[in-house]
Amino acid sequence: MPSQRYNSLVPIKVDLRSDTVTKPSQAMRQAMAQAEVGDDVIDRDPTVRLLEERTANIMAQPAGLFVPSGSMSNLVALMTHLGRGDRYFAPRSAHILTHELGTAAWLAGGMAGELPWSLGPGIPSPDDVTAAAQEEPAKPAYYDLIARLLCLENTHNQAGGTVIRQAVAFQLVDAAHQVGWSVHLDGARIWHAAAAQGLTPSQAAGPVDSVTVCFSKGLGAPVGSMLCAPTGFIEQARRWRKALGGGMRQAGVLAAAALVALDQELPRIDQDRLRAVRLASALRELGLDSPEPDTNIVMVRPAAGSGLTPGQLAAAWAAAGVGCLVMGTAVRLVTHRDIDDSALGQAVDLIANATRQAA
Ligand SMILES: Cc1ncc(COP(=O)(O)O)c(C=O)c1O
Repeated sequence: MPSQRYNSLVPIKVDLRSDTVTKPSQAMRQAMAQAEVGDDVIDRDPTVRLLEERTANIMAQPAGLFVPSGSMSNLVALMTHLGRGDRYFAPRSAHILTHELGTAAWLAGGMAGELPWSLGPGIPSPDDVTAAAQEEPAKPAYYDLIARLLCLENTHNQAGGTVIRQAVAFQLVDAAHQVGWSVHLDGARIWHAAAAQGLTPSQAAGPVDSVTVCFSKGLGAPVGSMLCAPTGFIEQARRWRKALGGGMRQAGVLAAAALVALDQELPRIDQDRLRAVRLASALRELGLDSPEPDTNIVMVRPAAGSGLTPGQLAAAWAAAGVGCLVMGTAVRLVTHRDIDDSALGQAVDLIANATRQAA
């Protein structure tokens, strides 16, 4: 279901719309001001190079490519994996299917196939992968699509920040490799999936062939994502990035903030999950329907019989100063670096009052 933005004229007091709303920390701003820079298009920027090496290392991949956004990272990955007339599969409501304008089809040339959520919200089963592959022609005729790629999303944003547990992640990758497909992981929030399981990000990702990670979701950097993959793959992806206008010159100023994010924000990321768990519990105490979140994304639906729609609930909260988004049949609230205990308490108080008044 498409997400819907609720715009209120009331200023936002506590912004829970997304973990992308964070402002760069003082340490990030200082690092940006002092960053050593060069022309990354001509002969590479030293701080970008450092970030690429460091992130690739974290993800246990040979190389990295710094890109402005998660969308561009996914796109250059798919342009590298796919050709025209190919097909890729992704779980229902994956970001790449619903929120990237279908660029995988019209720029990367790949037709999308959707996988069900057989193992819970956002999570297909290895059998789903095998079954999808079996439905493809064994010997494609010249007019048939050729399935080549599985795209996973960990955590799954629209399903509510759900985690593909490590054992399942490995099985999914294995199922895809067994049928001859490569695997790309949209790990925009792999940090959260890792922390929730007490794993490193590369352990949580599993043996994927390429992975996108984001510095501007949860980690609080102002801009930037990284595509990590084998060196030859990254060389080709670098060409696609340039073709899309993503060659950035003195991008070290951005990379510097991302390096601070890895140093200072990654170690504390699980606090966002713990606060999200507390938030969902407070919402349930108000009689709302809010399952315990896996990570930092809380999904909440109006109490049964309240007669309220998610849109009305979101409108009431926004009018009280709580930033939130309607996503499908739920309201989404996201904890992040700029939400400390006191902001969380304020949000709960504002939501409690507004919900009582709306009921
Ligand atoms: C799972 C996921 N992938 C990719 C993206 C795209 O990132 P960007 O907004 O940096 O293009 C997002 C954005 O929210 C996301 O949630």
